[in-house]
Amino acid sequence: MIEYKGLNALDDGWVIAETEFDARFLGKFETIFCQGNGYLGLRAATEESYPGEKRNLFVAGAFNRFANQEVTELPNAADMVQLEIRLNGKPFHLEKGKIHSYRRELDLRQGELRRDILWEDEHGDQFKMTFRRFVSLQDRHLMGMRVQITPLSKAAVISICSGINGQMTNSGAQHFIEGERRVFDKELLQLTATTTESNIEFVHTCAHQMYEGGVRLTTAPAPSMDRRRVSLTYKLKAEVGKCITLDKVASVHTSHDKEWRDRGAAHQALQDTAREYLSKKAEKGFDVLVNENEQAWKGIWAKANIEIKSNDVFDQLAIRFAQYHLLLMTPAHDSRFSVGAKGLTGEGYKGHVFWDTEIFILPYFLYMEPQTARKLVKYRYHTLNGARKNARDKGYRGAMYPWESAATGEEETPEWGPVDVVTGTPTYIWTGKIEQHITADVAYGVWHYYQATGDQEYMDRCGYEIIFETATFWASRLEWSDKEQKYHICDVIGPDEYKEHVSNNAFTNYMAYWNMTKAIECTRKLMQVQNDIYLTLESQLDLSGRLKEWEDKSKLIYLPQPDVHSLIIPQDDTYLKRQVIDLERYRNQEQVASILADYSMTQLSEIQVSKQADILVLFYLLEDWFSKETKAANWHYYEPKTLHDSSLSLSTHSMLASDVNELELAYDMFAKAARVDLGTNMHSSDEGIHSASIGGIWKAAIMGFGGVRSWEGSLRLNPKLPEAWQRLSFPLAWQGERLQVTVTRGKLEVERLTSGLAELTLLIHGQEYVLKDRIVTDLKEAERSE
Ligand code: BGC
Repeated sequence: MIEYKGLNALDDGWVIAETEFDARFLGKFETIFCQGNGYLGLRAATEESYPGEKRNLFVAGAFNRFANQEVTELPNAADMVQLEIRLNGKPFHLEKGKIHSYRRELDLRQGELRRDILWEDEHGDQFKMTFRRFVSLQDRHLMGMRVQITPLSKAAVISICSGINGQMTNSGAQHFIEGERRVFDKELLQLTATTTESNIEFVHTCAHQMYEGGVRLTTAPAPSMDRRRVSLTYKLKAEVGKCITLDKVASVHTSHDKEWRDRGAAHQALQDTAREYLSKKAEKGFDVLVNENEQAWKGIWAKANIEIKSNDVFDQLAIRFAQYHLLLMTPAHDSRFSVGAKGLTGEGYKGHVFWDTEIFILPYFLYMEPQTARKLVKYRYHTLNGARKNARDKGYRGAMYPWESAATGEEETPEWGPVDVVTGTPTYIWTGKIEQHITADVAYGVWHYYQATGDQEYMDRCGYEIIFETATFWASRLEWSDKEQKYHICDVIGPDEYKEHVSNNAFTNYMAYWNMTKAIECTRKLMQVQNDIYLTLESQLDLSGRLKEWEDKSKLIYLPQPDVHSLIIPQDDTYLKRQVIDLERYRNQEQVASILADYSMTQLSEIQVSKQADILVLFYLLEDWFSKETKAANWHYYEPKTLHDSSLSLSTHSMLASDVNELELAYDMFAKAARVDLGTNMHSSDEGIHSASIGGIWKAAIMGFGGVRSWEGSLRLNPKLPEAWQRLSFPLAWQGERLQVTVTRGKLEVERLTSGLAELTLLIHGQEYVLKDRIVTDLKEAERSE
């Protein structure tokens, strides 16, 4: 069903193929074969339609609220990929007739999707069909497709109806008011539509060119218009053995695009621009556009190539697959937007942004493409006022970042979720109200960015303010316990969402403490060395008053400590007192979250079972605050109670297993994490890609086995290759410099690719090295001296 090409040197880990058509698994391939460029995300629905398919085309950041009682979501733009192909009058449909050969491949080298089919219709006539498709990395508004049909048995009448279909919905919610439909010069179509609440105009444009045996056909197609739809039908008789080609290029522009957002009623200008843009692209022709796209991808891979030499070639493919999707999901062109939990690949999570971004996705860009990382941290500044409003609305001070974020930074988590197995009613979703660690995670992302890039300008203009406002939120959130004479944080959800309404979740308390102490440190530093910035922020935020509050309160935050004997840190006040049950059956489940068919959320709170890594995430974010022994003890205590029902879990476990020298476990977890989307579970990705897990693949490889960490401005490398790997080589951006790190068995080489003036100091297995041009070190030595 799925083939991972890569067993010969030429194809080494670049191609994923669907080798048989099976309509039960449309969702799997629609998601993993998705194409895009951070602006557009095009789900890989096939040209011909099947029941159960999900045709999705999303534009990053263009949110709309369908009705007042609903949360905002990314609307599904008009479809331009669907084709109605008729061969001798009968629809081309793979569930009819006979498939002699079938193969659909995504080639990660240039993001091209290609499908080759040899199909026989119900009368025994055979056709060779080829479909190619790209979403351009060179031109973010552009996509293109080519269809080639060759009758093999006898001459055939081929008709293809192609156009723009604005009848799309998000699971039934129609987000658009119909606009205009036009046919220009019998080959260029345009359809506009405006979102109902956010008032964003979408302009969809497409153009066609038809060829027979390489010669352009001039016969006019038949145009037609329906409600929310415009199309052209080409019909011709093809000789046996003669190839008919339809090239289609299409574009999407919106009034929300950076270039248009301030232009008010530029309605006509937007349409004209889109039309001119597309005509020019169409003139270039499919081959040129494909080539431009390929060159753009080449540029990406030349800079971002990560090599994994492993006994299993899948590992190499998995890291490239992750990089491919990281690029697709991230709106690197515009800091008003960020990464959705399903990227732009599906309706799941409605395009909303979670802690996934700071903790699982941002690290990739920090160390690979810092300019893009800057956009992601700027998004949180862009939404700071929304976060301030959330805090005010809930009676707190400062800024409280939403658990689910969209355009404004106000809370967008839906209130009702799946059925509760006990009551039969929808489950109330508490995360939007009480999963508050996100606020500290955002501050952490800002600090991490600053450490890795040294981008002082960002800190001065945005970063400090975020750190101060989030620390102020925590100061107002703490609750004094007379009994313990400590500040507690009660009634929260930690990362482990199977524990609702808990108090003193260790992750939340430590991160809140980190956030407040970081604000104290930054304020003191500003007072001493950047008085101008200090004075500006002092006048806006009353920093001196806040400093005192942070100092007084942070000292008294309750931080759960490891037990003196077992070293176990209680995940929250009650976790360790809960019942331990046999979780075998749920840990061996085929589909995640099978436990929810037996237990309600309330019942889950009563047993020691975790959805995902909780305390363990802390061990990586604040790694120097905990001993290796504590990390190991907690890994071994909590992991057997964890169902990995969130895709964020496995990569964290893998990284932490590397840290505590459990390399076999680390590799096992890496292998599982790498298969969350790409593996053979045919339904795990139906709702879209698992963005955080995709970021986690890179993290487990580079931060886990590569041992890359930054701590307070210093870069650490503690590489440890798993048994199966012979070599890991990766680029690394660090404070404006570019390095290439290569780990082989027993040896580490760090090469400086840029020639910055400053000497770089690195910590390798705890030992300090000064990097001028290159460091080559014996890893066994370095590990021994650790
Ligand atoms: C996880 C969260 C995550 C969200 C979006 C949930 O299932 O528990 O940690 O942020 O999915 O990926």
